[in-house]
Amino acid sequence: MHFLSTTSLLFAAALPLASAGKKPASTCKGLDSLAKEAGLLYFGSATDSPGQRERAGLDAAYAQYDEIMWKSGEFGQTTPTNGQKWLFTEPTQGDFNFTEGEIVASKAQKSGMYLRCHALAWHSQLAPWVETAEWTPATLRAALTNHVTKVAEHWKGRCYAWDVVNEALDEDGTYRESVFYQVLGDEYIKIAFRAAAKADPKAKLYYNDYNLESPSAKTEGVKKIIKLLRDDGIRIDGVGLQAHLVAENHPTLDQHIDAIKGFANLGVEVALTELDIRLQTPATPTNLALQKEAYKNVVGACVQVKGCIGITLWDFYDPFSWVPYVFQQEGAALLWFEDFTKHSAYAGVVEALTNTSSHGGKKANRSGNVWIV
Ligand SMILES: *[C@@H]1O[C@H](CO)[C@@H](O)[C@H](O)[C@H]1NC(C)=O
Ligand SMILES: *[C@@H]1O[C@H](CO)[C@@H](O)[C@H](O)[C@H]1NC(C)=O
Ligand SMILES: *[C@@H]1O[C@H](CO)[C@@H](O)[C@H](O)[C@H]1NC(C)=O
Repeated sequence: MHFLSTTSLLFAAALPLASAGKKPASTCKGLDSLAKEAGLLYFGSATDSPGQRERAGLDAAYAQYDEIMWKSGEFGQTTPTNGQKWLFTEPTQGDFNFTEGEIVASKAQKSGMYLRCHALAWHSQLAPWVETAEWTPATLRAALTNHVTKVAEHWKGRCYAWDVVNEALDEDGTYRESVFYQVLGDEYIKIAFRAAAKADPKAKLYYNDYNLESPSAKTEGVKKIIKLLRDDGIRIDGVGLQAHLVAENHPTLDQHIDAIKGFANLGVEVALTELDIRLQTPATPTNLALQKEAYKNVVGACVQVKGCIGITLWDFYDPFSWVPYVFQQEGAALLWFEDFTKHSAYAGVVEALTNTSSHGGKKANRSGNVWIV
């Protein structure tokens, strides 16, 4: 998922003039402080570099966007939406370019935010050379090792976590027929995690995928990946639940809890890494209410299960969402509308973060970025 959204169509919608220059609505406490009080490490939002968002006349919106993203206290973590992906970091074999990924990474550092890094081995948004080359297992093994090593070394010590392997599974829990899998089989997963562990010993190493938010054949597939790595003594620290959910058909609180516990019980940490909850557009009071319930369920489950350590929105501002460009007639998936007013789901997130009866014995401990359970 998460195609690059580079069409100018993306930002064609004009902002209402009234929103220009208006200060973001003030909140007593941002989502990040509420999350920390609830025992999480962070509440964050992915963001893209301006070149990827394409300015397209939205300069006024950008000032307001940047205020919320970097200064409002709503977010204590970020992930570069696109800039660390293979097509930017190694566009031709052996030529590494960290410019795009650095834009968000260095802003995160300046703002004192946790940085999740994304993604080292993924079948999509690959540089074209990876898919067109005539690989042998030996040459692809070397190319993958080199990519993971060089990219992870570049950001060494700065990533709280790396999504080392992204979306390796099909919905039935079997492996996706990516170029990596076709040439190397499941060995590619070991290669990527082994190289990442060597290159950045302190980063938490995650497997990241979508449709892991309630128990399924796919969540069982992830458990097999954890075993595959551990059987070879290879480190895996976390599972990222992307959490691209659907308002009109969302899991219950208990389904979320079961899925998260299923991973946490294996001794890995869990994070919601790309949260958005799309609805059939246009937004109506009815589907926005469903969206609020859906946000409340998934955030509440993370708060409630020890071992779920943080939550990342896949951007916070509807016009920058990938959803409308991939799913026809769906959108409004984030917490801020185009005019910078908040969805009712924002209140659902606050309710979930402040529900003191559901903290499950969590205790905040940010010392050395170590989560103590
Ligand atoms: C590296 O990436 C940046 C940002 O995408 C681009 O402007 C620049 O031309 C690239 N550098 C090289 C040497 O290709
Ligand atoms: C708070 O969390 C508990 C435990 O999960 C849940 O049963 C309850 O409905 C939640 N209350 C609110 C107001 O969200
Ligand atoms: C937090 O974790 C650190 C590192 O393990 C530990 O030394 C410290 O005592 C912990 N603090 C609290 C309040 O639990």
